[in-house]
Amino acid sequence: GALEGRRWPQLDPECHERLMVFVDFAAPGSREGTVVGAAVTDLGSTVSAAPELRVALAGCGTVGGGVLELLTDLPDVRVTGVAARNIDRARSMAPSRVALTTDPARLLDGDPDVVVETMGGLGAAHELVREALGRGLAVVTANKDLLAEHGPALRELARRHGGWLGTAATCGGGAPMLERARRLGRRHDLTVLRGVVNGTSNWILDRMSEGQDLGAAVAAAQTAGYAEADPTADIAGHDAARKICLLAHAAWGLDLPPARVAVSGLEDIDAKVVIEARHRGRHPRLVASARRVADGVHASVDVRFLPPADPLHGVAGVANRLELRDDKDERWLVDGLGAGRWPTAQAVLADVLAARVRRQSSRTNEEWVTELRRTGS
Ligand code: HSE
Repeated sequence: GALEGRRWPQLDPECHERLMVFVDFAAPGSREGTVVGAAVTDLGSTVSAAPELRVALAGCGTVGGGVLELLTDLPDVRVTGVAARNIDRARSMAPSRVALTTDPARLLDGDPDVVVETMGGLGAAHELVREALGRGLAVVTANKDLLAEHGPALRELARRHGGWLGTAATCGGGAPMLERARRLGRRHDLTVLRGVVNGTSNWILDRMSEGQDLGAAVAAAQTAGYAEADPTADIAGHDAARKICLLAHAAWGLDLPPARVAVSGLEDIDAKVVIEARHRGRHPRLVASARRVADGVHASVDVRFLPPADPLHGVAGVANRLELRDDKDERWLVDGLGAGRWPTAQAVLADVLAARVRRQSSRTNEEWVTELRRTGS
């Protein structure tokens, strides 16, 4: 997550030894809270005043436009360029000194430290991300399709060239699902991930429970800015399938291709069945699940009619919730708004801030090594 840190030793009044208490202060705009007592981020002994962070933004639509607004408000961040299909719209949103282009590849001319990709799709977005990682830059992407299809190769590219790939916005919107799965996966033997991870379909199922038909509910979801431009992936369950693959990677480090997920979506749900279920106190939810098995992961996405005792029953509107279980049947829930401009833009921002911390800490290390060499110690 996006943490900036200071840490200091404290004296324990009960004993005469010095105790080191680690404190990580959450940065402004961070989705992570301040952490006391657990050394989660090694930032080195000092964090110098922040040098300017140069950020290029590809895509200026629902999410990208939100990101631009948040970035523009941040001190020590300079937006070096914005690539947008609709230049006039981007011009009305971007500060005047920002270079605008319709060609995402041109963004690299502005010498950014971080490239934010919110364009979506595979073609130009894939080329830009690949080129930026190949130059050792930090890339923050909200592109689930890209990660689900090319995640392993992109991660390898980042590793080889010293780049960094921030993906918080690809799953759970404002809910830190990937981060939680990654952290818990390091300390626990996770066995099951199970969640409502598509806000649009959840919102639509709520409308259907109230008697609206699928077509009208989809149109309303698009107007509200939840559904993708092409809502097929939301409705048919493919968006949720991509997300469960990304979660499986975070939890277990395994590359699960979306084609291996058994998927069925909302298209075949009878509106009457939805209303009847509601009368029996059951809520329809598009549930994505992944179970660790001896030879890998079994994953599926389908509509379930959940009883009130189920932790996913009460997830309403565009909220998302992920349940994680381990081999001792310990359980965790991660909650948050899963779709829409601001939750997703905040998740992108958290990764941009994480990239800044990463850059500062590596600078600090370099400076430290230089100092050691200079003094010969
Ligand atoms: N269309 C997606 C959803 C957007 O509804 O969950 C966030 O990934």
